Amino acid sequence: MCRAYYGRHGPFGCAPAIFGDESGPSFYDGPVARTYEIRTHGCQMNEHDSERIAGLLEADGLLPAGPGTPADVVVLNTCCIRENADNKLYGTLGHLKSVKAAQPGMEIVVAGCLAQKDRDGVRERAPYVDVVLGTHNVGRVAELLSESRRSGPLTEVLDAAVIDDHALFPTALPAVRDVAYLAWVTIQIGCDNSCAFCIVPSVRGEEMSKPFGELVAEVEALAADGVTEVTLLGQNVNSYGRDLTLAMRADDAGHHDHVAVAGPGWNSGERRARPLFADLLRAVGAVDGIRRVRFTSPHPKDLRPDTILAMADTPEVCEHLHLPLQSGSDSVLSAMRRGYTADRYLERLRDARAGVADLAVTTDIIIGFPGETEADFEATLALAAEAEYDGAYTFIYSPRTGTEAAAWSDKFVDHAVAVARMDRLRAVIERSMTRRYADRVGRIEEVQIEGPSKKDPSRLTGRTRQNKLVHFASRGPIRSGSYATIEVTGSGLSHMLGELVEVTHQATHRTRIPVSAI
Ligand code: 5AD
Ligand code: SF4
Repeated sequence: MCRAYYGRHGPFGCAPAIFGDESGPSFYDGPVARTYEIRTHGCQMNEHDSERIAGLLEADGLLPAGPGTPADVVVLNTCCIRENADNKLYGTLGHLKSVKAAQPGMEIVVAGCLAQKDRDGVRERAPYVDVVLGTHNVGRVAELLSESRRSGPLTEVLDAAVIDDHALFPTALPAVRDVAYLAWVTIQIGCDNSCAFCIVPSVRGEEMSKPFGELVAEVEALAADGVTEVTLLGQNVNSYGRDLTLAMRADDAGHHDHVAVAGPGWNSGERRARPLFADLLRAVGAVDGIRRVRFTSPHPKDLRPDTILAMADTPEVCEHLHLPLQSGSDSVLSAMRRGYTADRYLERLRDARAGVADLAVTTDIIIGFPGETEADFEATLALAAEAEYDGAYTFIYSPRTGTEAAAWSDKFVDHAVAVARMDRLRAVIERSMTRRYADRVGRIEEVQIEGPSKKDPSRLTGRTRQNKLVHFASRGPIRSGSYATIEVTGSGLSHMLGELVEVTHQATHRTRIPVSAI
């Protein structure tokens, strides 16, 4: 998949780091600890799964491998949304085969969507892989590794999450967060929609929401650990809770207390059978210590006024909405089975902008969906221009085996045509981005400090509530994760320049000590 991205890159990588002040295995007691490395592809859901895998492996006594040092356990967390993912996986596995031959005891794990979809393929083409596990049993990685040590290579891929087994939900604990003050919180897994281009429903299964009380408790635990910003993750966050029945809630003893803090409307005689995403936004925003709440992604067809109201009246919820458009043509939207028209999308967008002051909006757009004509594409260009996006991910359509649209090969758009359309779309997006960033000049913005600027380490970089980067000079070091106010003095396509006004909140999370420094 050809992908251009303007906006926030996932803040998590797999930089080797451990908590310096946590008890656990050290380099000096007993035999040398085994090490692990996780290579993550794909979306934030995968990034989060990787954090969880890291947490489980560390709980099992492994340490992150240092840079350039071969790891004892290599985990490939795969994604099948991207084009060529299969070729890349088998290329990497071919290389790892020779590394493993030269390093007895090395273990290879293949996890993620591609493993879910192509379990037999992995086993057949790379029999030396020790563990193949799917998207529903990430939590079993350590057990499966130890089972494979005893009884040889194994594959465990479940076809669906098992209802009521909450352990199936990725939890932020005991994940190893690469950035200590930010956390992903998975509120829902799977997806009940059936967009014709999308492989997610078949690899992630039916939509299941994590119970409300458990989510609030998870955010409370994160906040106690010094996390100040959480991003709520789901394939279709607005439909959060659709599957939560009254019965489940009644079983969840702690739940009713949390419901009580869910905000006005919850107990107002309406007695809804399930919590809404809006309730979750309010409850998470109310957790002591949480200063910023983000979420991704809402589906335009399900973006209801109550969500907008909750965004507007919960000060912690940031003024940023990622609202995937996919196409601006009604006939393409209908072929995609998106459940909205271009007008409906724009109406939702107008409502969101009217309801939430100073809202930044980003999107996903697919170019060259089967059957997309020049007129369809021009409708996308026109909508993108009207929407005045702050950023967009743009993708060239890539057929995913097993999806509806993959069978429409007679309607596939020529690749060169799609590439040329992508360039035209990017020009439109860049125009609105440039304006939206320039509009910030002269304002005072709150930023969360990320660390030294990558291009000019004498400056610091911070992220605004709208999810925009600001580079600014500082008279002294400021701890990452702290908050400050900045006067914006200049702007570029996807960044701003500014002057520090004042530090408003010092970070309190625990410090991590790089392994190499121990
Ligand atoms: N081809 C191109 N883009 C895709 N996306 C999902 N599936 C495909 C595909 N087959 C894009 C959509 C979605 C984003 C996460 O990835 O825009 O919103
Ligand atoms: Fe895929 Fe559509 Fe579900 Fe998003 S809403 S995960 S695009 S099927």
